[in-house]
Amino acid sequence: MIFGVILAGGIGSRMGNVEKPKQYLNLGGKPVIVHTVEKFFVNDAFDKIIILCPDSWVNHTKNLMKKYLHGDEKIVVIEGGSTRNETIMNSIQYIDENFGVDDDTIIVTHDAVRPFVTHRILNENIAAAKEYGACDTVVSAADTIVQRTEEGTMIADIPDRSRMCQGQTPQSFKAAKIRDLYNSLTAEEKETLPDACRICVLKGEPVYLVEGEVFNMKITYPYDLQVAETLVKGEY
Ligand code: CTP
Repeated sequence: MIFGVILAGGIGSRMGNVEKPKQYLNLGGKPVIVHTVEKFFVNDAFDKIIILCPDSWVNHTKNLMKKYLHGDEKIVVIEGGSTRNETIMNSIQYIDENFGVDDDTIIVTHDAVRPFVTHRILNENIAAAKEYGACDTVVSAADTIVQRTEEGTMIADIPDRSRMCQGQTPQSFKAAKIRDLYNSLTAEEKETLPDACRICVLKGEPVYLVEGEVFNMKITYPYDLQVAETLVKGEY
């Protein structure tokens, strides 16, 4: 089975002092998360779409799905975890308890705050996860990447830009594989892992690269929401 896993468990602290987590802010007349879920909903490849959000937002999210997607039974809303990776693990636990996890169980994990994902990106993720077990979505770095020293005020390195990419989502995996790799990490390793593909990299497992889109942006700061408003109006 193929599962869309919408990661909405964060609180959006970099967005500043807004009244709700950024995935619930209005974008072109409806909440950001609704735009994102719709992209998955209209893609027939997905058997189920699992939305994971903070516990106190589960009811609100269910109501949004009722309002905008008629409470379709393809969509479930459950509680996320304390870190992004724990949120992903919660989705796998849910899948295991309700459907079982086998070698053909694929999860396409996606930030709730990236509403401009395309069908090409989703379909290429599914194909790559089936073939390689894990994939990431990236775009080539437009700017030169400059690495700081640990102390932060000097250059440590300037890696060859032609090989540098910026990571986006989706990141897609065989569910059993990413769960087993994650469980094999030490508590210390888990803390240094903001990114799910890094679990594979740490364990020496290959991760295929799917070409993203510059407009598959993540809404992180207030400025991003302004850019997203422009994109949603079709002015791109
Ligand atoms: N996320 C999640 N579970 C967590 C933390 C984050 O599902 N425990 C999700 C966020 O909801 C978001 C995505 O991961 O859709 C990308 O993370 P980020 O942009 O860092 O979101 P936040 O953690 O909400 O933002 P911030 O870091 O500014 O607090």
